Amino acid sequence: MKALVLSGGSGTRLRPFSYSMPKQLIPVGQKPVIAHVIENIRDLGVTEVAVIVGDWKSEIERLLGDGSRFGVRVTYIQQEKPLGLAHCVRLASEFLGEEDFVMYLGDNMLLGGLEPIAEEFAKQRPAAQLVVRQVADPRSFGVVELAADGSVHRLVEKPENPRSNLAVIGVYFFTSAIHEAVAAIGPSARGELEITDAVQWLVGQGAEVRASEYEGYWRDTGSVDDVLDCNRALLDRTGTEIRGSVDQMSWLFGPVVIESGARIVRSRIQGPAVIGAGSVIEDSHIGPYTAIGDGCALRYTHIDDSIVLTGARVSHVRGLHGSLIGRSAAVGQVERGAGHHRLVVGDHTRVEVLV
Ligand code: DAU
Repeated sequence: MKALVLSGGSGTRLRPFSYSMPKQLIPVGQKPVIAHVIENIRDLGVTEVAVIVGDWKSEIERLLGDGSRFGVRVTYIQQEKPLGLAHCVRLASEFLGEEDFVMYLGDNMLLGGLEPIAEEFAKQRPAAQLVVRQVADPRSFGVVELAADGSVHRLVEKPENPRSNLAVIGVYFFTSAIHEAVAAIGPSARGELEITDAVQWLVGQGAEVRASEYEGYWRDTGSVDDVLDCNRALLDRTGTEIRGSVDQMSWLFGPVVIESGARIVRSRIQGPAVIGAGSVIEDSHIGPYTAIGDGCALRYTHIDDSIVLTGARVSHVRGLHGSLIGRSAAVGQVERGAGHHRLVVGDHTRVEVLV
């Protein structure tokens, strides 16, 4: 079996982050979303992986390289425009050949546990096996209706009036039958070649399409709240590892990772929390559920339930909560006596202050 990871697209819901980095590279827990995706694929025993990349090709290549760091071999396929998930399958047809494959959306986080579904697919080899899950509001997902025998009877992309609560989550298993389907369909009303239409085409041709319910943790990391939720779920799985330095005046509680070269000075770190390599934390309260990236500096700051990306600096800000602070961003106080706030804020940024 091969794998196809989809990492093109524009990610407008994650603005302003999607201006400077693809959402697949946002770190959750201790590594970017797409690194978790590649590790999950490797855990299925799949080593030949094609990654569809768009405008962020070089950033994604810098992280994944040839894949050897993750125990897989990565081939990159450029998609000039995000023309849809089925368009990605068309682009990868030469790489995939006649082999079965798993298609994995590069912005979806599943915390492992796909092995039983992969085994079921390998044994029964339906034309398509969708991974689904019950959700409270399925309107922003592909929605599956099952027939009495448990096979997929209908599949609709983001329906206004969903007829079931079974959402297609970001993993699909296919045999080579999907290639004829993606060649047969035309663009949807939103101008994309939809994988849901291709799968529905298979159903219409009488091909076997099945759905398996995934019980583990899953999030589509399309919004800041989902990214923070994933971060909490991953931090809940971390232990304590202290590689950096912690002075006598600091306190660590619960599971805390302090990476090498990090310095904790007169501070309190409430786990679960991660402090990245080379970061300096002084006179601050960090956590719980907070991941600080590499090379950050936090001084006189209280922050919890948040992610701070590489090289950011925060000083003299108390009560930061549910925040996502971008790479090399600076958050701090104005000069004494200024009597005003000063903001230099990029497009589509969100700032919420306590007044
Ligand atoms: O999250 C699950 C949902 O993912 C499914 O329920 C839907 O049926 C499926 O269409 C998809 O919906 P989204 O609207 O969330 O898809 P999104 O545009 O966010 O794209 C998903 C991933 O695929 C993301 O990593 C970007 C990548 N992509 C997307 C498009 C449209 C590409 O690589 N190329 C593309 O052309």
